[in-house]
Amino acid sequence: MIVAIDGPAGAGKSTVARAVAERMGFLHVDSGAMYRAVALWALENGIDPSDAGKVIPLAESAEINLDGGRVLLNGRDITAGVRRPEVSQAASRVSAIPGVRRELVRMQQEYAAVTSVVMEGRDIGTVVYPNARVKVYLDACPEVRARRRVEELGGDYTQVLQEIRERDTRDETRADSPLRQAEDAVYLDTSDLDEAGVILAVLRIVRERISSGTGVTS
Ligand code: DC
Repeated sequence: MIVAIDGPAGAGKSTVARAVAERMGFLHVDSGAMYRAVALWALENGIDPSDAGKVIPLAESAEINLDGGRVLLNGRDITAGVRRPEVSQAASRVSAIPGVRRELVRMQQEYAAVTSVVMEGRDIGTVVYPNARVKVYLDACPEVRARRRVEELGGDYTQVLQEIRERDTRDETRADSPLRQAEDAVYLDTSDLDEAGVILAVLRIVRERISSGTGVTS
């Protein structure tokens, strides 16, 4: 059983995916954390995150483990580092490289071979698991998403808003697997909902989809 949750930065994907996974007893996989891990590794080595020739070998040799909300890169806990703003921007750049995507998508697809998952990202319902039983596209206006990010991580609202807009544009316009809603995904605008409201709404969608048998189990 696969639940795919896609949407832009700050739409509430992580909170919801974690809560839904807990409630259903599924594994929660934050695919963005995988792009962030490769991006952090590139930055640590002074590699330009857009340099495909240097970043693809990193993605190919990275051993990434997502363990109960922690992010491990080659056995090292990088959970705190991957949330930094410069890593967010770098992750958006490495994720535009097709060779990086190929490698990480392969890793992401391996999860569902062994267990039921709730996976969040940008291309889960369109590319990683096009046959997912449940697909949700979470959205919110950029201003609300920026405010949530500032509440979560701190920082200057105007700058965070600008970074979110830049990341949206890059994620939506890249040639390989751009951020877009799958045709069979349920669209949910979370702008006017609080955390509990979003979780309830998504749990309702998941239950409806499962009980109506819509879609195909991968
Ligand atoms: O969800 P996030 O903010 O942690 O994602 C970080 C970056 O990784 C984001 O700018 C786009 C990219 N990403 C992607 O291209 N595909 C995914 N499935 C997940 C994230």
